[in-house]
Amino acid sequence: MSKILVTGGLGYIGSHSVVELQETGTEVVVVDNLVNTTASVAQRIEKITGKPVTVYNVDVCDTKALEEVFIKEDISDVIHFAAFKAVGESVDKPVEYYHNNVSGLISLLHCVKKFNVSSLVFSSSCTVYGDTKESPITEIHPIVEAISPYGTTKILGEEILTDFAKFCDTKIVCLRYFNPVGAHKSALIGELPLGVPSNLIPYVTQTAAGIREQLTIFGNDYNTPDGTNIRDFIHVVDLAKAHVKAIDYANANSISLDVFNLGTGIGQSVKEVVETFERVNDLTLNYTYGPRRQGDVEQIWADASKAKHVLGWETEITLDEMMRSAWAWQQTL
Ligand code: UD1
Repeated sequence: MSKILVTGGLGYIGSHSVVELQETGTEVVVVDNLVNTTASVAQRIEKITGKPVTVYNVDVCDTKALEEVFIKEDISDVIHFAAFKAVGESVDKPVEYYHNNVSGLISLLHCVKKFNVSSLVFSSSCTVYGDTKESPITEIHPIVEAISPYGTTKILGEEILTDFAKFCDTKIVCLRYFNPVGAHKSALIGELPLGVPSNLIPYVTQTAAGIREQLTIFGNDYNTPDGTNIRDFIHVVDLAKAHVKAIDYANANSISLDVFNLGTGIGQSVKEVVETFERVNDLTLNYTYGPRRQGDVEQIWADASKAKHVLGWETEITLDEMMRSAWAWQQTL
């Protein structure tokens, strides 16, 4: 019987993935240092699945404490979410990002090797494609230069894993997420906002809730049909399901390392997203247009056909539902 260690399992994508894993009958152990979430998320997961979650309050950078978890639990596979994820913050705190995201991965790899883990799934990001003009983008697009220290940590992470895969038996899958949004249909778990949100959807929902006065759409002079940026928004539950598929795929095939884009394959403009939010939730959002945000890529969306053909995974949840669930979650906060 496999037991999966989920690092960062109480975070946004981590908690939704723990739910999906438990619902397929997998035993899950969570490691989380609670730096960007709260311990009560474990009870909320239990409420959804009816199954207890074992949680260790451990920082993945603390190799000794992490080893203790591997000694106590018989871990067969690992999904590694634990990392810092704010692009803007990474520009102000590059060293903290290198340390947490890169040292955290190295610390985990120490245990992965020592305890002969079968498969490892790594949270990567479409940010590895940098400032590309090519969409839909496939996994073979060259990885050239990061646009932020956060991006650098994801590129370095993939590079380390590509090298590690040559010298160990652990099967590795890197998942490049596009823009995860929305919340679980129970509205018991979702993205917990800390401070002023930098991501679009938490800013939209907080504006609708009156916590923020006005949303600023960063730029309407891009070379896109309505002038605003285009992104590939994917529901977090669809994304979570891909992790279950990735673990199954790694264990059923003789791969050493593989990489998948996880997106809907549909580009939606920021304006379209805001209008969808207003329509499905029957409200009017106070928004304005402002200057471009430094570091924003004009348009990027996934070619997710590899995940469809190889993992047998594709998204099911529409943008309407993403916006409905995001608002339902906001109203519980
Ligand atoms: C970025 C990363 C992504 C990462 C994510 C994590 C890139 C290309 N992508 O996504 O890999 O996982 O951060 O945080 O680096 N916007 C507004 N007003 C706001 C906030 C956002 O107009 O108040 C716009 C942005 O300009 C952008 C879109 O909404 O066009 C999405 O922004 P955001 O949610 O921050 O995600 P990305 O920057 O696309």
